[in-house]
Amino acid sequence: MNQANWTAVDDYFCQLLVPEDEALRAAVRDSDAASLPAHQVAPNQGKLLQLLAQICGARRILEIGTLGGYSTIWMARALPADGQLVSLEFNPQYAEVARRNIDRAGLSDKVDIRIGRAGDLLPLLASEGGAPFDLIFIDADKPNNPLYLDWALKLARPGTLIIGDNVVRNGAVVDPASDDANVQGVRRFSELMAANPRLSATALQTVGSKGWDGFSLARVMA
Ligand code: DHB
Ligand code: MG
Repeated sequence: MNQANWTAVDDYFCQLLVPEDEALRAAVRDSDAASLPAHQVAPNQGKLLQLLAQICGARRILEIGTLGGYSTIWMARALPADGQLVSLEFNPQYAEVARRNIDRAGLSDKVDIRIGRAGDLLPLLASEGGAPFDLIFIDADKPNNPLYLDWALKLARPGTLIIGDNVVRNGAVVDPASDDANVQGVRRFSELMAANPRLSATALQTVGSKGWDGFSLARVMA
């Protein structure tokens, strides 16, 4: 079994269950045209994020790593009329592409994109004293995943879901001696989740149009 099979199966389910509308298609098109890395989630993954947000009744969502705003659109569509999604992006050019994609999707009232280092923006967000986030999606630079988990816990409440993208990395996650800082980031992130008594967590491998990767899902218990 190989990439062609995985893509064919993703295509089958995506066409059947997860048709993209024009705003989502245009978001991918414009992200590609602006040469953003094609790291956005697949449509069926975006739909999973949307379903998880609906299942937990999310009113406030935090995304770390906006990229072109593709997953942002999926998740923001799960919000009630007065819901809010805060998305953090380091690269101002990516944020500009995302802003246009989100405007075109009619979601600019619900989405607050903040530009800067998440390591700087997260303490600012915490100091604003807003309501806790109901769902937090960590999908930025992987070496900082341990830091992002720390802040996610500060910005959460019991019941909050914390989702981490790209925790498998073509299987490299199992190599303790990896010299890839991304691999070490997701390993440390997983170890911190395991050791934290406030969290109940799992992680799943995925194959599909995005290759072999996976995500972690944790619920804040206390
Ligand atoms: C990478 C990052 C992502 O968020 C993703 O979805 C896929 C790959 C990366 O840094 O390689
Ligand atoms: Mg990702």
